[in-house]
Amino acid sequence: MMVFHHLTTSPPDEPEERGVHPDDSGGGGTWHRVLPSDALASGSVARVVVAGAPVLLARLEDGTVAAASSVCPHQGEDLSGGRVYMGAIDCPLHHYLYDLRTGVNRYPRDVFPADLAARVAPLPLYPVKDEGGWIWVRSPEAGA
Ligand code: FES
Repeated sequence: MMVFHHLTTSPPDEPEERGVHPDDSGGGGTWHRVLPSDALASGSVARVVVAGAPVLLARLEDGTVAAASSVCPHQGEDLSGGRVYMGAIDCPLHHYLYDLRTGVNRYPRDVFPADLAARVAPLPLYPVKDEGGWIWVRSPEAGA
């Protein structure tokens, strides 16, 4: 039996808990330290807020951490209430399935006729790092 963990959290409030990633080599935006790595177990999800935007964190079955918008592109459901399924997030409302490595919708896009499939929006992803015991998320540049 698979057990899925759900964790909803806010980023740390203390200024020293946030910061610019020491190895930031450019690419725009700012890296935010959002959650201790060990707070996100395999197959679990968390919701954090990065630069005012709700962000879904998920640790995939292979240990990779993904970051994406927490707002389902279909009808706006909070994806942090969903489950990780084979590298994707399963929206709790209508069970649309978004690949957390590419953002591409897998269901129902893969079963729709091509003209309908082209209208299924992808899930926006965020750059993410799992380093030094912390999960870091890069916010987009203002106006980007
Ligand atoms: S709101 Fe997420 S699938 Fe409909």
